Amino acid sequence: MEFFVEKRREVMVHIEKFMLEKIHEYLKPIDTIWQPSDFLPDSSRESFFSEIKELQESASGLSYDLIAVLIGDTITEEALPTYESWLTMVQGVSDDEEGGWMRWTRHWTGEENRHGDLLNKYLYLSGRVNMRMMEISTQYLIADGFDIGTGHDPYRNFIYTSFQELATNVSHRRVASQAKKYGDPLLSKMCGVIASDEARHAKAYKYFIEKIFEVDPSEAMIAFEDMMRKKIVMPAHFLREVGLKVGQTFGHFTDAAQRLGIYTAIDYVDILKELITDWHIESVTGLDEAGEKARDYVMNLPARLLRVAERMKNPMLEYKFTWING
Ligand SMILES: [Fe+2]
Ligand SMILES: [Fe+2]
Repeated sequence: MEFFVEKRREVMVHIEKFMLEKIHEYLKPIDTIWQPSDFLPDSSRESFFSEIKELQESASGLSYDLIAVLIGDTITEEALPTYESWLTMVQGVSDDEEGGWMRWTRHWTGEENRHGDLLNKYLYLSGRVNMRMMEISTQYLIADGFDIGTGHDPYRNFIYTSFQELATNVSHRRVASQAKKYGDPLLSKMCGVIASDEARHAKAYKYFIEKIFEVDPSEAMIAFEDMMRKKIVMPAHFLREVGLKVGQTFGHFTDAAQRLGIYTAIDYVDILKELITDWHIESVTGLDEAGEKARDYVMNLPARLLRVAERMKNPMLEYKFTWING
């Protein structure tokens, strides 16, 4: 165990320099990156009230399911304190408060923080949402915390974040295109810029894992296998509304996302396939016996999951979220 942790720390020190070399590609300069206020009505302007009216008119065309998905996505973004706190506990990150990995974590958090901020303000102005109910769910998600099966292992954490950033990219991108379809170009633009942040972050985490594969292929492969066996559980899995237990809202949220085609079981498989390709899983060399076995599992998984996904029926169960007015 000690050896295991020591090796992780060494690898993290080794890949830190590659991360620092590329940090300006993966994270944008703070002074010029978009901010939520670039998209929202400015309350110091005389036109503020008419702009809100316009915003509410556009938002009134969004379907119930779409609003539900958007709220779930917003709550997920707003649970950022949880993600930052577990990233700072990861081996190799926690070692040095002024080190490169801590810097990465703080800057990544700073960028992510804009997502929940923007979506929350939009939803507040939209008039469609019971804000108090949504805020209760947000507070629950942060207070409950969640176990995503990574422990403090950097390999498992960065595999998780690679997957998660790709999944949020898909989901925000699809909300953007549906918002456009329903006549809300402002929301579409907002979700579009968030989606492109997620894509950039995904590139970063995928790169870190690519570098880990170069120096510790067997352990990286075993970590990948382990995370896929446990399944990549989205933070939204732990959503709850007032009066409900942890996770009881998730089923309804994911039903809505599946119905709209915003994030589906097929997307899960597609993301897995993308990771397999980008990490060149098929041609990784230097694997020991356990590593080879792990690779076999990972390589066979997409076809297996696809068969299951294709048999899934579209969920039809109707549900009334406490989050949504009317
Ligand atoms: Fe985000
Ligand atoms: Fe993200």
